[in-house]
Amino acid sequence: MSKRIDVRNENIYYGDFLAVRDVNVTLDPCTVTALIGPSGCGKSTFLRTLNRMHEVIPNARVEGEVIVDGVNLYAPGVDAVQVRREIGMVFQRPNPFPTMSIADNVLAGVKLNNRRISKSDADDLVEESLRGANLWDEVKDRLAKPGSSLSGGQQQRLCIARAIAVKPSVLLMDEPCSALDPISTLAIEDLITTLKEQFTIVIVTHNMQQASRVSDFTGFFNLEATGKPGQLVEFDTTDVIFSNPSEQATEDYISGRFG
Ligand SMILES: Nc1ncnc2c1ncn2[C@@H]1O[C@H](COP(=O)(O)OP(=O)(O)OP(=O)(O)O)[C@@H](O)[C@H]1O
Ligand SMILES: [Mg+2]
Repeated sequence: MSKRIDVRNENIYYGDFLAVRDVNVTLDPCTVTALIGPSGCGKSTFLRTLNRMHEVIPNARVEGEVIVDGVNLYAPGVDAVQVRREIGMVFQRPNPFPTMSIADNVLAGVKLNNRRISKSDADDLVEESLRGANLWDEVKDRLAKPGSSLSGGQQQRLCIARAIAVKPSVLLMDEPCSALDPISTLAIEDLITTLKEQFTIVIVTHNMQQASRVSDFTGFFNLEATGKPGQLVEFDTTDVIFSNPSEQATEDYISGRFG
């Protein structure tokens, strides 16, 4: 079930370095939000705080709140492993387990979560997840082949299948198409549009056309100068960000006058 995310007064640190400053934003269920902005402004850093992946880096920490359907992920007693199950993540480079079969790759997250699952339930889940990731027809006759036998675009869809197999409520994607050809990119974009009926989706992208094609809302991150913290400068509907942004910095960035 898709969930609402409220980020309140969030500061994100690597040790003493304040990487991202004072983020306040609400992401609604069943929407796609694109995060854009120049390299180093903190998009990936921010994204990783939405499922507590940030703090796996030594000395990395978060101040403020990330409230998912009323629960602050950073409240004492919240289980970070459970959070990462609820809130799935897909990375820039497809990262299937290379020697594991296609089917086992889909089930990898489910098995990590220690869920016991019968053979027939597993088969059903593999099919459902691969269909969900729009990959089923291409791989249904070779489910026992290794994950590494797929093309890059197929591997990325396999990673999406693995992420949705655990039935998360939120899907975070960090430049999921940057290593893909245009056809595979369009396949992933179509998939995102379908998946948003079920998930709250946040996608980091450097591709402005992609942001305008797939997202309902867009957040523009920027930093004043090197070494200064990144900030969420503007957040609005994608239409407004691309046609009539409030901030000059946003206008400059999307029209290519920046960086
Ligand atoms: N593991 C880390 N340890 C220390 N500093 C880090 C770490 N990862 C990122 N940073 C710093 O945090 C800031 C934000 O980096 P981040 O990777 O979030 O930027 P980004 O917007 O995703 O950039 P890009 O578009 O290049 O992916 C940068 O100054 C970066 O050097
Ligand atoms: Mg990044």
